[in-house]
Amino acid sequence: MDNRRIGVFDSGLGGLTVMKELMALLPNESLVYFGDTGRIPYGTKSEETVLKYTRSDINFLQTFHLKAIIAACGTASSIALPKLSGQYDIPLLGVTKAASRRAAAVTRNGRVGVIGTTGTIRSGAYRSFLEEENPEIQTVSVACPMFVPLVEYGYAEKEAAKMIAKDYLQEIIESGADTLILGCTHYPLLKKVIGEVLGDSVTLINPGECVAGDVKKLLEENDLLSKEKQTEQYQFYVSDDPAEFIRLGSMFLERPIDGLVSRIDIEKYN
Ligand code: DGL
Repeated sequence: MDNRRIGVFDSGLGGLTVMKELMALLPNESLVYFGDTGRIPYGTKSEETVLKYTRSDINFLQTFHLKAIIAACGTASSIALPKLSGQYDIPLLGVTKAASRRAAAVTRNGRVGVIGTTGTIRSGAYRSFLEEENPEIQTVSVACPMFVPLVEYGYAEKEAAKMIAKDYLQEIIESGADTLILGCTHYPLLKKVIGEVLGDSVTLINPGECVAGDVKKLLEENDLLSKEKQTEQYQFYVSDDPAEFIRLGSMFLERPIDGLVSRIDIEKYN
């Protein structure tokens, strides 16, 4: 038994899709979330910058007494985590590895599609992890940079989203992939539109769900599950004005979060 909190970070509020999965699967755990709203997006930044930002996000979270840290951000998980592994004395889990393992297990024809930010796709991390799982797997990767603003501006279920999805996903359809990794925090919110474009024969993998499963397994195997909730079970920190985070975050989580969000100066943790 271990009542310490779990830390979760993302470039902004998208990581709340991962937080939601953790809350659902591990209802007794206490979670502290950091969204780097002052420095978002990570998906268009260079490798050095994403690595620097990820380090400071982890440094900030380490000021709490944590038992694990989860990189909810697809870009940070793909670019920075492979370079940081082994550098911290608490478990550091990312969405990329968890989703690759699941995709490799569920594909029937060995063809897996991956969509993500420009940085995630450029990193090739999904391809490497999938090949590690099974060298026979063929990966087709497509960057979908317009998906994040579509979600943030409330267009996730509108016709415009479908038109853009049809264009981005054409290469996935042509590849014959039977499995698609939604490799960015925001994409699970486009699941309906993506599912309509690809049809029922393509299995959609939500990395948040996969990493939540990994966290549960890690806690169970190491006797680290919480016995009781902390008084402030969920805490949120951001690096810019919390107002927009509170508004959109309540929508992402489908529960109000006002009163739980504080602003910090992330530059102090570089
Ligand atoms: N959270 C990012 C990701 O999952 C998307 C937003 C950004 O570009 O920072 O890759």
